[in-house]
Amino acid sequence: MKNKAYIVMGVSGCGKTTIGKMLAEILKIDFFDGDAFHPLMNIEKMAAGIPLTDEDRYSWLLDINKQIKESFTKGRSVVFACSALKESYRRILVQQIEDTVVWIYLKGDVDTIGLRLKNREGHFMPSTLLQSQFEILEEPSTAIDIDITLDTNTIIHTIVKRLTKSDFGLVGLGVMGKSLARNFSRNGVILSLYNRFVAGSEEQVAEKCIAEYEELQTAKGFEDLKFFAESLATPRKIFLMIKAGEETDTFINELVPYLNAGDVIIDGGNSYYGDTKRRIEFLKSCGIHFIGAGVSGGEEGALKGPSIMPSGAPEAYKLVGEYLTLIAAKDKHGDACCSYIGKDGSGHFVKMVHNGIEYAEMQLIAEVYAYLRYAMKMQPPQISAVFSEWNKGELSSYLLGITAALVVKKEGNDWLIDLILDKAGNKGTGNWATIAASELGQPATLITSALFARYVSTVKEKMLIHLEQSSVKDIPVIVLDEIKSAYQLARIANHQQGFMLIHTASDTFKWNLNYSEIARVWTNGCIIRSVFMEELISVLKKKQNIFEDEKIVSITKAYKPALKNFVISALQYDLSIPSHLAALDQLNTLTGNYATANIIQAQRDYFGAHTYQKVGDASGKFYHTEW
Ligand code: 6PG
Repeated sequence: MKNKAYIVMGVSGCGKTTIGKMLAEILKIDFFDGDAFHPLMNIEKMAAGIPLTDEDRYSWLLDINKQIKESFTKGRSVVFACSALKESYRRILVQQIEDTVVWIYLKGDVDTIGLRLKNREGHFMPSTLLQSQFEILEEPSTAIDIDITLDTNTIIHTIVKRLTKSDFGLVGLGVMGKSLARNFSRNGVILSLYNRFVAGSEEQVAEKCIAEYEELQTAKGFEDLKFFAESLATPRKIFLMIKAGEETDTFINELVPYLNAGDVIIDGGNSYYGDTKRRIEFLKSCGIHFIGAGVSGGEEGALKGPSIMPSGAPEAYKLVGEYLTLIAAKDKHGDACCSYIGKDGSGHFVKMVHNGIEYAEMQLIAEVYAYLRYAMKMQPPQISAVFSEWNKGELSSYLLGITAALVVKKEGNDWLIDLILDKAGNKGTGNWATIAASELGQPATLITSALFARYVSTVKEKMLIHLEQSSVKDIPVIVLDEIKSAYQLARIANHQQGFMLIHTASDTFKWNLNYSEIARVWTNGCIIRSVFMEELISVLKKKQNIFEDEKIVSITKAYKPALKNFVISALQYDLSIPSHLAALDQLNTLTGNYATANIIQAQRDYFGAHTYQKVGDASGKFYHTEW
């Protein structure tokens, strides 16, 4: 390691000897008092109250410079206490060792220091000289500034904090940010944590977070961006866990002035993939790398190991990949559920589709719950038992498991689930997935149906219409095994659509994505982890469309009647089951030996001469008819 000279500077009485000695002790390096290098002549002059001239100081400064170099030749770093009041003095002090000097400036006003000098005994400098020191003082521009009114321990803590560099920076200490910070720290990463300062609501958030969690003791907290950036080893690696959208842009703009070319920003929020591409391009113009990383797993995943989907320039990923894989969940074989996804915003695109699949997976479970509860009249414990049973085998998934647990949670004498409003929120990723599917011309009807089911739930209150409920008394319910098969097939359809959406995007944007690897990254840590996802790793190695896989084809054939029966029965009970219906509808469309799009084409040609293609004409020629 390169030797360093830490020069603690400031006017006489600022405390540089005390602080310098303490610092040297903590850093376990040698301490020198600059005053001890004054020739006798200078000391006599000062004692007589005569200010030193630049000439008087010249040989003194050279001697200090000589001592530093000597220490370096012995492989020793040093702390020097030296007033170094003028820029020209500082230039002499650093001659031939410019890169090794760190300036620490103890800053105080003339009154504070004057008072200190008055109380000081046995020092050759009379307080009358203080004024002349302030007159010649030129404050350094590149020093670590320290306010001398702070107590000694705080001063030392601040200096050490600003001297030692952290491996990784993390911005935003909300629920996810906090958990990720703890995860990084547990894995031995030295962190700098930054949280903005908002008077009254977000004050000293980083420091408080460090004090709260034992594992964060090696971390440093900041609410000043300049100090935060300075605290990081270069190239800096900064992970953002802040609100997606405008807030992310605003923050990036604030951060960039403190960064250098080669630094890397990683956006771990649920950002829109188009924004990620734009940010990559914008930051490229300043030589700064930007990685958009989808992060899934909620609070627990962030703490114990999330699934991570990073994208951007491969050379940027190389700089941060080892840190991301370190904190990621591990798959069955112990490999990290984090993999370089591709260029641009492909990581956030994949995370967006993950969320779309998540929406539909949640909706499918909710629909099965509705059938069990309202058609089969099961109580929550029975429903929980059914879900738990299913969760033991091929249907096992994180979402099914948590639903088995949450339906039996009680509040007082009530099932908590019955006390929760029938109104589902969303943060927008399902909406983006629907828009992306629409823009790419890719049917993602399960995602869309699940998203719109949430929308319907939010308008229901206002739009409730009072229709006669059809009599459902005499309709037989279907058996549990059939419901299970229906649900299983609907899940297959959901995953097929999700992966086809990713496939279409990959082709359109030339991302060259690895679908099997995406499935692997989704086998642990994320919300849609499941036994089926594990099966998809090998399926997607061979087929891009999972409906071409032999086993999936045979399941589809075998379970379609169950899906149909479930849908019919649920509809007879007046239940809303849009995602199962979408799955069945997709299968009907894909397998039905009949046509409807021909009617659409004919209509288009009739009123708008939009032309059509003909059955049996392999040339793809377009025809128009004068209808
Ligand atoms: C995850 C989740 C996570 C979050 C969603 C919920 O993968 O960890 O998807 O990103 O739970 O933001 O989204 P909605 O609020 O839109 O349901």
